[in-house]
Amino acid sequence: MADSVNGSNGGEPSPDDRINAVKDAALAALAVADSADALQEWRNQYIGRSGEVTLLLRSVGSLPAEQRAGFGQAANRLKNELEGSFDTRQAEVTAASGPAGAIDVSLPGRKPSGGRLHPITQTVREITAAFGAMGFQTVEGPEVELDRYNFNAMNIPDDHPARDMFDTFWLDRVDEEGARSILLRTHTSPMQARVMEAQDPPIRVVVPGRCYRYEATDASHEWHFNQVEVMAVDEGITFADLKGTLFEFARRVFGPERKVRFRCDFFPFVEPGVDMAVDCFNCEGDPACRICRGSRWLEILGAGMVHPDVLRRAGYDPERYSGFAAGMGVERVAMLKHGIDDIRHFYANDMRFLSQF
Ligand code: DAH
Repeated sequence: MADSVNGSNGGEPSPDDRINAVKDAALAALAVADSADALQEWRNQYIGRSGEVTLLLRSVGSLPAEQRAGFGQAANRLKNELEGSFDTRQAEVTAASGPAGAIDVSLPGRKPSGGRLHPITQTVREITAAFGAMGFQTVEGPEVELDRYNFNAMNIPDDHPARDMFDTFWLDRVDEEGARSILLRTHTSPMQARVMEAQDPPIRVVVPGRCYRYEATDASHEWHFNQVEVMAVDEGITFADLKGTLFEFARRVFGPERKVRFRCDFFPFVEPGVDMAVDCFNCEGDPACRICRGSRWLEILGAGMVHPDVLRRAGYDPERYSGFAAGMGVERVAMLKHGIDDIRHFYANDMRFLSQF
């Protein structure tokens, strides 16, 4: 067979050319390997067990005898040289990515979660702000209360059946007559008497505060909860003042479109007594409405004209002074506003719930 016209090597690269080609390609690829993964890949491709340099070394046997020694030495030199270059490059890449365990500055930051007020605190502030805008001052009173204020001053004497409405936590303490006299207040109403004792009319106060009742908990009852008490006492206060003030409160807290409904109700410390409802802000009388369940009305508070006996007990002349009072459950207001169906969510301290507000 005739030799190729191109020369005696027939177009086959010379052994030196093969070594140089591998060397040039390997060094060029190494210079751009810039991560641990890229370096590993480079190592497999060139100096690993089936890498290109290893293949060069294995091909020694197929060369003419006189070339074998020279080629073998050159390929071994290349292998050593590339191993050295690999170590150098690996050191560079590691140094550029920082010491082990250092912060990866390319990672997106984590957003710090800001603190916020508890939904009940927010609701208390909304309620007191609505009354504050109408000239009511916010005051607070004791959670550990005397029987005398919690009941007697509120026109609920010892044998009054209304005491059954309030399942009471009593403190383990008796007075001279052997009667239990200290309790965890069951409502904020005792502050009506305390405020009247402490200041002269005109009085306009709102009293937010924690209350306690010895009750089993369920979706609408907690053994501790918050109320806001409202009271205005002055000469010439009428039921029209009660209606106007509570209507304005409802509009401020539940929306300017709200209507209110008053119905007769009984509370020993007011006469007449009423409960107030606002029209449901969630529906158009849809029987499936999850807030009002189709009734259209949401009862939000009890109210009435301060009973003459309550005024008298506090040292006020009921012939001269009159007043109105109201009391509402803060959790109920918050549940209605936000469409929450279980009061226990407020005190379970579950961030998935709390961080919605
Ligand atoms: N204290 C009552 C309760 O806890 C609520 C209440 C009703 C307060 C009527 C009032 C009122 O001031 O006038 O059930």
